[in-house]
Amino acid sequence: MNTKESNMRSLNWPFLSGREIYIERADGIYLHTKDGQAIIDAAGGAIVVNVGHGRERIADAVAAATRDYSYVVPPWMTPSREAMLTALSDWLPESLTRVHCTSGGTEANEAAMKIALHYQQAIGDTDRTRIIGRSIGYHGTTLATASISGHPGRKKGLEKALPAFPVVDTPYPLRCPLGSHHSDCGSYYADLLRDVIESEGPETIAGYLAEPITGSSGGAIVPPEDYWPRVRSICDEYGILLIMDEVMTGFGRTGLDFGFQHWDFEPDILISGKGLAGGYAPLGGVFAREAIGSAIENAGYQVMFNTFGAHPAACAAAAEVLNILREEDLVNTSRDQGAYFHNALNDAFAGHPNVAEVRGRGLFAAIEVVANTESLEKFPVDAAVSGKIVVNGLKNGVFFYGGGTGEIRDIICMGPPLTITEDEIDVVVSTLRKSVDEVIAAQ
Ligand SMILES: Cc1ncc(COP(=O)(O)O)c(C=O)c1O
Repeated sequence: MNTKESNMRSLNWPFLSGREIYIERADGIYLHTKDGQAIIDAAGGAIVVNVGHGRERIADAVAAATRDYSYVVPPWMTPSREAMLTALSDWLPESLTRVHCTSGGTEANEAAMKIALHYQQAIGDTDRTRIIGRSIGYHGTTLATASISGHPGRKKGLEKALPAFPVVDTPYPLRCPLGSHHSDCGSYYADLLRDVIESEGPETIAGYLAEPITGSSGGAIVPPEDYWPRVRSICDEYGILLIMDEVMTGFGRTGLDFGFQHWDFEPDILISGKGLAGGYAPLGGVFAREAIGSAIENAGYQVMFNTFGAHPAACAAAAEVLNILREEDLVNTSRDQGAYFHNALNDAFAGHPNVAEVRGRGLFAAIEVVANTESLEKFPVDAAVSGKIVVNGLKNGVFFYGGGTGEIRDIICMGPPLTITEDEIDVVVSTLRKSVDEVIAAQ
C-alpha cells in the first residue's frame, strides 16, 4: 500500500509488498474494511484479541493513563502498573512472584533467556551458558529469539549469521516416529530431551525454552499427557530451568488461565505477550520464581528495561483486559465454546481426504491439510496451499491465520475473540470447509 493519493511522497507499506487490506474499524469479532466488507476475525489478529475489538472501557483506561502521566520509566510505579499487578496476582501461579514487562513477546523471550543465563551465573553454575530450543516453535524476531525458534521459513537468508542453539524435537503426536498418537509418544519425546542434554553436556545447559502447546508454527500441537511432567522432572534432575513461552497460549486462550495448566507441573519462568493487553496496546511479560529474581539481585546483575517496557498506557489496557476476562468468565467460556468449536471442526472435517487432523485446546484450534491422509504426504511448498486457503477465507468473509514453518505445512490456525458465539463459530467452521475445498479442487 502506498500513499500516492495525497501529494505526499510515495512510501511503501508494508516494508515488503503483500496483500492490501485497509481496516477502518473493528468491533466484537468483526473487522470492517474501507470498502465496506465485514470480516470475521477468526484469528483474533495474530491470536491476540482475547476480549474482542472495540471495548470502550479499555480505550478509556488507555486514554486516562496517557492523559495523566504519559511516560514514566519502567521500574517506577504508576496507578496503571499497580492496577495491572493487582489483576495479575489473581492469574499467576503462587511461585511466580517476580515481574518484568517488555513491549512484546519477542522482547519478553529475549529477557527470559537472559534472566535464565544470569540466574545460572549468579548461583555459580558458570558453564551453563546455553538454552535448548525446539525443532518446531516460534519465539520472536531478534537474532537470538529467531535463532532459538524452530521456524526455518523465518530464518531464511540468515542461516549463516544466526547463533546456534541446541535443538530437541518438538512433540508432534500426529507424526510421531513410533506411530501416529502412539501410547509411548510422550516418553519418546521426553527421552529425546534427555539425550540432547546428555550429548551437549548437562553442565552447559541453563534452560529449556518451549511453548506448552505449540503455536502457529506447528498449528496448536498438543503434546501427549505424560510429556510435560516427564520434562519437568528431567529439568529438575539436571538443574535446568523450564521456561514456558505462553505468548500465544496465555490468559485464557486454551480454556485455562495458562496452557501449561493442562498438565500437572509448573514452569520456572513464564513468558506472555499478545493476550495480556488483548491487542489494545503492546506489552510482554516475564514472570519468574522468587529465587531467580533474588539470586540475580544478590549477584548485582542488571535486568535492563526496554524504554517502552511496561508502558503506562499498555499496563492500563492489561489491567482492564484481565479484569474483563474474569468479570465475564471468559476463560471458562473459552473452555466451553472451545469444546463446541472442536466438535464442529471435527464434524465438518470427519473423513475429509485432505485434513489429517483437527487439534488444539479451548478457543485455539488448527487443521493440518495434507495431500494424503493415509501417508500424511504434504502438498508441495510451491502449491502454497495454506496461503491460498487464507486468501480464500478472506474472500469468503473470515480471517484465518496461516501457520507452519515452510517445512511444517499446511496449517490453518484459529484463535477468535473468546466472546465468539456458537452461531458465529458455525459460520467460521462452514467457511473454513468451503475455503479448503475450493483450494483443493483447484490443485
Ligand atoms: C509463542 C510466541 N512467542 C513469541 C512471539 C513473538 O511475539 P511478538 O510478535 O509480540 O514479538 C510470538 C508471536 O507470534 C509467539 O506466537
